Amino acid sequence: MKLAILGAGSVGRAVAQLSEAHGHSVIALADSRNAIVDSRGVNVNEALEHKMNQIPLGDSSLEDVFECEYEVLIEATPTTLESAEPAFSHIKQALEADRHVVLANKGPVAERFEDLQVIADESKGDLRFEATVGGGIPIMSTIEDIGPRNIESVKGILNGTSNFILTRMAAKNLSYGHVLAEAQELGVAEADPTFDVGGIDTALKCVIIANVLSGGGFSLSDAKIEGIQHISNHALNLSDSYDLTIRLVGEVAQGEINVAPTLVSKMSDLSVGGTQNIIQIQTAHAGVLTLAGAGAGGGPTASAIFLDLQRLKRDYV
Ligand code: HSE
Repeated sequence: MKLAILGAGSVGRAVAQLSEAHGHSVIALADSRNAIVDSRGVNVNEALEHKMNQIPLGDSSLEDVFECEYEVLIEATPTTLESAEPAFSHIKQALEADRHVVLANKGPVAERFEDLQVIADESKGDLRFEATVGGGIPIMSTIEDIGPRNIESVKGILNGTSNFILTRMAAKNLSYGHVLAEAQELGVAEADPTFDVGGIDTALKCVIIANVLSGGGFSLSDAKIEGIQHISNHALNLSDSYDLTIRLVGEVAQGEINVAPTLVSKMSDLSVGGTQNIIQIQTAHAGVLTLAGAGAGGGPTASAIFLDLQRLKRDYV
């Protein structure tokens, strides 16, 4: 499919670089300042090399991107809260032009789910957002396949950065500040790491799940959120002596969204290490379904975007 990618951070770059191998063609790529548009296919490596050397991606504008013959808009700009702008307007413009939209940006589906549904319902284009939750784990497709009405609750570890910090603090007795700096160097943290460590990123993902399960009605303000900033090495060491550890757990159950550091048994599935994510789906008739895998980073998140593109191709091409 012909792709226009908005955002050239780790996710946008990974999608651009892996598109050809997945049978897609990037015909537009934009960062927050410039864009490159080429209907025969953008030379992705050259454009990204320019960006690395502080040279503009190309000499086109965002308006040029929206005027090109793209089939799918990939929205991979940084997540913003409340109005979820400018991502919301990007999506609106694409859907109103009857194009498909695939999101990595969590803001629009967490903060303005119903507004988006109205626009999507009037469009011939489809809106998909697998990459917004759980990186490479196909959680949205799984919920879609099982059917929201067959799901009672969802619980999991949905933030790779916090999990990396807690795992490493516990294993090496390193301070919170030291490990946070390491996590930032790894490049899995949000632009603003307070989203990760403050529990906001996990909460946004839980809100998106809640919206999908209930057909909308939730935004970040509905979530009870506590982050990991105040977890001490003492608390982790003490937990360890009882064969427990601390994980940042997000839960969607009975219309409530809770995110908080939680004691979990070191033997339990929830004690995944490093940047791994895990999601447990409590189904109505089939017990608990557990999905685990790489929850953050360019490659895994791009894989979720390619999964959405595959579904669009199956349903529309
Ligand atoms: N920063 C997030 C995480 C990845 O650490 O899980 C993007 O959702």
